Amino acid sequence: MSRALSGTQPTHEYLHLGNYFGAVRQYVTLQEQYDEALYFIADYHSLTSLREADLRQAYSFNVALDYLASGVDPEASLIFRQSDVPEVCELSWLLSTVTPMGMLERAHAYKDKVAKGQSADHGLFAYPVLMAADILIYDSDVVPVGQDQKQHVEMTRDIAQRFNQAYGVEALKLPEPYIQKEVAVVPGTDGGKMSKSTGNVIPMFAGPKQLKKAVMTIVTDSTPVEDPKDFGASVFQLWSLFASAAEVEEMKAKAARGGVGYGDVKQDLLARLLEYFGPMRELRESYAKRPDDVEEILQAGGRRARTIAASVLSRCREAVGFKP
Ligand code: ADP
Ligand code: TRP
Repeated sequence: MSRALSGTQPTHEYLHLGNYFGAVRQYVTLQEQYDEALYFIADYHSLTSLREADLRQAYSFNVALDYLASGVDPEASLIFRQSDVPEVCELSWLLSTVTPMGMLERAHAYKDKVAKGQSADHGLFAYPVLMAADILIYDSDVVPVGQDQKQHVEMTRDIAQRFNQAYGVEALKLPEPYIQKEVAVVPGTDGGKMSKSTGNVIPMFAGPKQLKKAVMTIVTDSTPVEDPKDFGASVFQLWSLFASAAEVEEMKAKAARGGVGYGDVKQDLLARLLEYFGPMRELRESYAKRPDDVEEILQAGGRRARTIAASVLSRCREAVGFKP
């Protein structure tokens, strides 16, 4: 049985263009190609940064809506809450005991926080181990993510190997990351990586006014309209997400020649954004009006996910010598 799996943290109101192009669009592609596809809402992980219980609930519902609106099909994929499969916490403990401290000390999310002078708790430090458990507990083959998660998937492989070696078993399957090169890192409005925690995002489903505001804040330099421009600028990169290959080539040539204004590119980007996400927005609204149906989808997904998790976990429990 081949499986694709991924997750997104419920830490903001809407997913952003980085989440969509970097990951969720690939969720949709892979649900057709694998026997099973599992896409969860990483609510256990969100505890490392969000302390408001009400918001966690609201954002979790929103992630489900964003998945559904993006084309994750509940007939083809399991959509569920991570916390509906508490077995991952037990596997996470088993994995912790084969994970070297040095490996976790090298993890970017933890290192970045410490570098910013923020105090990190054990949850953030152990985050990659829980993520490894998320992936390994479903015998996942492929994990669609953005570039920033590549290190975590590599650590997952390493941890799985260490567990198998320590107990002389083949209990855990090694997963591969699935990273779409062209959109591995979607830039934010300030030119850095688009990220919820930086506030440089363009949300997929914000209202037209908020979207316009976000697009207009994309940082540009003061190059006059008639001068050549750097196509690497985030405004061109973001625009390219919504353009055909031929349109991208044409715009690239225009940028090199000069004669294209940033303001016009932004206006066109906004129009394309609204058009691209328009039908998805309608689908989202239709699900938002049926919260009970969405809850039913999550519960059904959780039940099926839990049966897969239970069987992999029992393999691991047996490997370490626990009674069935
Ligand atoms: P954020 O980084 O905004 O907190 P998450 O960590 O919840 O978002 O990421 C969910 C998924 O979206 C992950 O697979 C991640 O790699 C992907 N992703 C997030 N931001 C970007 C980006 N700017 N470019 C490409 N992929 C991204
Ligand atoms: N760490 C991921 C992120 O911040 C979310 C996540 C948790 C995840 N568990 C996962 C992604 C398992 C893929 C597979 O984006």
